[in-house]
Amino acid sequence: MSAGSLSPAATPGRPRTTFASLSAQKANGEPIAMVTAYDYPSAQVAEAAGVDVVLVGDSAAMTVLGHESTVPVTVEEMLMLTSAVRRGLTTPLLVADLPFGSYEGSDELAVATAQRFIKTTGCDAVKIERGGSSVDRARAIIGAGIPVMGHVGLTPQTAATIGGYRAQGRTAEEALALCESAIALQDAGCFAIVFEAIPTAVTDAVMPLLSVPVIGIGAGPGTDGQVLVFHDILGIYDGHAARFVKRYAQRAPRLEERGAR
Ligand code: KIV
Repeated sequence: MSAGSLSPAATPGRPRTTFASLSAQKANGEPIAMVTAYDYPSAQVAEAAGVDVVLVGDSAAMTVLGHESTVPVTVEEMLMLTSAVRRGLTTPLLVADLPFGSYEGSDELAVATAQRFIKTTGCDAVKIERGGSSVDRARAIIGAGIPVMGHVGLTPQTAATIGGYRAQGRTAEEALALCESAIALQDAGCFAIVFEAIPTAVTDAVMPLLSVPVIGIGAGPGTDGQVLVFHDILGIYDGHAARFVKRYAQRAPRLEERGAR
């Protein structure tokens, strides 16, 4: 393989995804396709598949690093993974998850971490989880000139405080809180919001109130797009997969075939 062939080439004829083009996709009813990637080859696959957005998810903690949750992954690990994805990607918008503990403490911490990601990796935006104080963090990061994607519903970084890995918004009270968080993140200036593990009826009730693109995972068909985890799509992760995960292949033996860990 020549050195030249290692450079990522934009998908021929396909313009780069921009924040404006994502809004236009929402306005035109064109579904937004988002997938996670964690290294150079998975980025190249995402590029070739023509997805709109690539997320270097902190799901890397589990799928790549073998941890039992997303919590342990560090800023340094995420910086390395995001830089590798950047080298394999040209056309899709590149978003990086800020890991647990790297932004919640204060606006200053959030801005400093987001700046590190933008400067070191060349990603286009960062993603943070939850409403509440994360709305203030999102506003601060956006105020510093860095685009932010929000994430509500099942927020794995704080799964321990929301009853574990279970659907959110299942009571009227929870649904209202979720709706308020999404609107607050939009008002803070987030360019898009991930809805994870939310009942379809709740998603459908909130969607008319949101003018920014909503990307769903286990949140029903009514969102503006869908996101899937690369390893789940290919069945190359043998850990627990949520029921809503859509598999297109099964390359690793299932847990039940190997005996539970
Ligand atoms: O970390 C991740 O992969 C995510 C997606 C599931 C949205 O946050």
